[in-house]
Amino acid sequence: MKKKRGIFGRFGFILAATGSAIGLGNLWKFPYITWHNNGGAFVLIYLASVIVIGWPIMMAEILIGRKTQKNPVPAFEELGSKKWSAVGWLGVTTGLVILGYYTVIAGWAITSFTKCLGWSFSGYVKPAAGAFDNFTGNGLLQLFLSFIFSVITALIIWRGVKKGIERTTKILMPILFGILIYLVIMVLSLPGIDETFKFLFTANFADLPSTAILESVGHAFFTLSLGMGAMITYGSYMSRKESIARNAALVVFLDTLIAIGACIIMFTIIFSVPAVRESVSADPIGMLFVTLPNLFYTQIPFGSTLAPIFFILVGFAALSSTISLLEVLVSFLVDKFKMGRHKATVVAAASAYAISIFAALSLGAIPFLSKLNIFGEGKDGVLSTLDHLASNWMLPVGGLFITIFVGWFLDKKICQDEVNLYKTDGSPKLSYKFFRFLIKFIAPLAILAVIIAVILGQDFS
Ligand code: TRP
Repeated sequence: MKKKRGIFGRFGFILAATGSAIGLGNLWKFPYITWHNNGGAFVLIYLASVIVIGWPIMMAEILIGRKTQKNPVPAFEELGSKKWSAVGWLGVTTGLVILGYYTVIAGWAITSFTKCLGWSFSGYVKPAAGAFDNFTGNGLLQLFLSFIFSVITALIIWRGVKKGIERTTKILMPILFGILIYLVIMVLSLPGIDETFKFLFTANFADLPSTAILESVGHAFFTLSLGMGAMITYGSYMSRKESIARNAALVVFLDTLIAIGACIIMFTIIFSVPAVRESVSADPIGMLFVTLPNLFYTQIPFGSTLAPIFFILVGFAALSSTISLLEVLVSFLVDKFKMGRHKATVVAAASAYAISIFAALSLGAIPFLSKLNIFGEGKDGVLSTLDHLASNWMLPVGGLFITIFVGWFLDKKICQDEVNLYKTDGSPKLSYKFFRFLIKFIAPLAILAVIIAVILGQDFS
């Protein structure tokens, strides 16, 4: 029996896809890794990664989804063969891993929100040094927060994505953009702005850590929700009237804009307020959750009103991402094991939460979990290990196979018809040739080079 599939409305795909792309990756992780990798040169490599690798793979995933109208596993089976469906399986596993630690960090938005609400009403009290460590080290609290976040995600998926999320993101994404732009404008007058621009936009390749290239490619995958089939799944709901190339480019552009904006905001505060700078260099992980409240309450007009709102939005940005992750798992269980949507939602969310337990307790609560270290310096603990494993290995490997599949195995005609970039005389447009060139040669070679470089030992020192 053929299942009826939903189709996104006019701006539905772009909203859902940007909602998936924009998340903690932009607001929390990008500033954090950019800081770690000393700015400028890293930003440049990152920009190259999103254009040369991100954009074509985004197109490739969408076209696989829209062509087959299926989730990643049967999609690869239909267009390729049973063997190719392994790429879909890898994607589903990766989604599980990411969801497993993502809800832990997303849970922090809940506390930041309630904290800010308290400060807004009874005045800001600068948190004591080490307060954030105490917070992350509180195992029960971490378990509770990630549980709440997982339940909210599951409730939305339970009821179906379209009505809930398409409608919510329509209101929330513009507000998120609005607040971010407001904050950028506000920090422009702070004394640290010059240093921020210097830090972000002057490239000094001597400052670049050896793992930076891998990290920028990995992050390009992560922030654009690529390499595991999230965009295949969303692409399967995309209307045939939409342009794949244009939608993909817009998602990449908006996602990058938000990421750079988040850096400008956070780094300017760091460079402007000496006390913040000291606390950040010790622990950049709390940047979004520690540095930003400080700014709201000490530097920004209307900050005390904006602060709680901002963290609601961080929560929603994270939510529109966790939804896309869970949707991949659920649609997979539904299609593959013929589970009902409700049962699939419970199974998928519970499996992800089982991983969250380890991640939640690895931030100080259980020393053994906090010390686990496979990937070297700065990657201590289960949470960081899972993040590194998923974003720097599983997503790029998944992405590599997607490029090889679309570039080399998929019937050229199917690819070109789906992307539909024809001139009036029927010949392919320049943009199509550019896409083909990237997906066939540049993207796979770049990913392969990075993976080989790492296997040769750059990262395991
Ligand atoms: N892109 C999201 C972020 O930046 C995270 C995310 C959602 C994701 N869905 C994904 C990452 C699928 C990889 C794959 O926060």
